[in-house]
Amino acid sequence: MTLLEEIDKNNIPRHVAIIMDGNGRWAKKKGNSRLFGHKNGVKAVREATEAAAQMGVQYLTLYAFSTENWNRPKLEVDGLMTLLVSAIENETKKLNENNIRLHTIGDITRLPKNVRAKLNGAIDNTASNTGMNLVLALNYSGKWDITNAVKRISQDIKDNKINVEDINDTLITNNLTTAQFPDPEFLIRTSGECRLSNFLLWELAYAEFYFTETLWPDFSKDTFYEAIKSYQNRERRFGKISEQIKES
Ligand code: IPE
Ligand code: IPE
Ligand code: MG
Repeated sequence: MTLLEEIDKNNIPRHVAIIMDGNGRWAKKKGNSRLFGHKNGVKAVREATEAAAQMGVQYLTLYAFSTENWNRPKLEVDGLMTLLVSAIENETKKLNENNIRLHTIGDITRLPKNVRAKLNGAIDNTASNTGMNLVLALNYSGKWDITNAVKRISQDIKDNKINVEDINDTLITNNLTTAQFPDPEFLIRTSGECRLSNFLLWELAYAEFYFTETLWPDFSKDTFYEAIKSYQNRERRFGKISEQIKES
């Protein structure tokens, strides 16, 4: 039986989020530049996207650039932006062939103009696709998103549009850049690091976490299938006890 055949098609997480980490270390191990690692990371994005669509995942969110990543050497940041442009140019056709719709989360107004233009083009170009939703987190951080939500809600209170009593889980959720997506049930992080690095702080409240030593450029469909198999062996209790879950 192949790994894919071992996966229960009736228990696929609707939304998977991935922290794509380890490009730099992968390149260093090969005696190459960090940018070489990022270039090879693009192939892994393709693998992950195809595998997710194949399994019937409806939303795949990829952490591509954090607000903290601006602090890297300029050469690397510039290289990442250039790579983003070429990846969008090369992959949009494939997204359309596979009926995949592209979205972004994060403050893309701070990205270079040409990157923004390419991104918006690809978003428009794929807007009528009805299959999987591919969400790229760019210039994103969870704290940034929550801070903005607090500002928006505060302004609405100030303008007498809502009362303090109206603040609840749903209102906060609806004011995040992820409002239109369901919360991820499953988070994968590659490269052996076991931290969130400011990713989807609110949305991952009840997600299952999976950490693998695999460095991002080595991430393959099989790595993804293994991760999903692990997800399927977990019991999600949401505060209840095991017997209650089995009864339902
Ligand atoms: C992830 O790989 C890609 C981005 C954060 C853009 P890294 O570049 O963080 O690789 P390591 O963690 O240094 O190996
Ligand atoms: C997290 O990876 C951000 C992305 C994958 C885009 P980093 O490599 O930037 O995270 P830290 O700094 O090691 O936590
Ligand atoms: Mg890293």
